[in-house]
Amino acid sequence: MNLVIKNIGQLVTVASHGARVKRGSEMRELHIVEHASLLINNGIITQLGAENSFSVPEEFDVIDAEGKVVLPGFVDSHTHAVFAGSRENEFAMRAEGKTYQEIAEAGGGILSTMNATRAATKKELKKLANRRLDAMLRNGTTTVEIKSGYGLSPEAEMKLLEAINELKEEHYVNVAATFLGAHAFPPEFSDWKQEYVDRLCDFMLPHIAERKLATFVDVFCETGYFNLKQTEQILLEAKRLGMIPKLHADQLTAMGAVELGVQQNAVSVDHLEQLNESGIAALKNSSTIATVLPGCSFFLNHPYAPARRLIDEQIPVAIATDFNPGSQMCFSMQMMLTIACTQMHLSPEEAITAATLNGAAALGLSSEIGSIEIGKQADVVLYDVKDYRYIPYHYGTNHVWKIVKNGVVLEF
Ligand code: NIG
Ligand code: FE
Repeated sequence: MNLVIKNIGQLVTVASHGARVKRGSEMRELHIVEHASLLINNGIITQLGAENSFSVPEEFDVIDAEGKVVLPGFVDSHTHAVFAGSRENEFAMRAEGKTYQEIAEAGGGILSTMNATRAATKKELKKLANRRLDAMLRNGTTTVEIKSGYGLSPEAEMKLLEAINELKEEHYVNVAATFLGAHAFPPEFSDWKQEYVDRLCDFMLPHIAERKLATFVDVFCETGYFNLKQTEQILLEAKRLGMIPKLHADQLTAMGAVELGVQQNAVSVDHLEQLNESGIAALKNSSTIATVLPGCSFFLNHPYAPARRLIDEQIPVAIATDFNPGSQMCFSMQMMLTIACTQMHLSPEEAITAATLNGAAALGLSSEIGSIEIGKQADVVLYDVKDYRYIPYHYGTNHVWKIVKNGVVLEF
């Protein structure tokens, strides 16, 4: 299908001109074209520029953007979108003063979602996740990373990874799969923690690699969860099998997780609410992306990751939702932009770069998606606003007007 989008008020390209990721002051450069047109050929962007600066073949379908704003689709590079059940009871407990850790220690938290997820069939899990992906897409997200991690047994983790991989084939959204078997210790191994890690390495990882069920591996490297040694063991084995490491790092305590992630060449270290000087120094000398999750701090009333400092230190920053039933029950990347601007002191430009191009880089996909440039996949979103800054400014509402995914206009 061939398509022209004309009469665009602001075409926010986030162009990187071949760079994998943006850092420092580059994150403020959105490379906006005003009064623009965009040409799409079989799902690929083939031309863009000021209105009438190039000719449009007659047989092309036309979208009149009516002077509105166009952005690259958001790349949500960290979610836990496949799960069953919900935890509004914990939300209410936190409102009364209980902390996330206290609730987890009392048997809630990840293990409560594990019980609901183990009890669900793959079909039920896919149905729930499909609806969530629909809503994410409607809110402007065109690529979503999804982690397993609520199964925590070989069978249940395979069920989750199969569901994620089937969604990848069946849903319009691009899906990237991550194995997070090391999300928590399942109750049957609470006294045999090292045995769980050994089984994960000796049985789960080889099986997943053989069936190509996950591109990435992730570990909740945290006090009371997986320690540095166990995390390193998992990352080394996963790398040997061809998977790319990511980490949940420095969320609740700074215990060396960021430093380990950098040392193991993780593509990203995510969370960073407790990041300290040693972690910042490690990131500065690396190509690892710092992925911050503004919604998680907002929802749990935890400290925010020092995203402003990271950008000023020339460390590439990505923003993702961390969508999950415990610590972040919101899938709107538009909302994440608002929180990043108001609570982390990012400019709207920096937040948009972090949520598009740098998110794509955190999935190793920034040569294909994350910006509106010739040769890239045509994942573009039209917003019913006249100025891109209006999107984070007028928050808590969905400004998406139309979505073009792989060059196809989606109707909702
Ligand atoms: O990224 N911290 C670990 N995992 C999730 C929360 C999972 C849950 O509470 O269900 C996170 O915040
Ligand atoms: Fe997470």
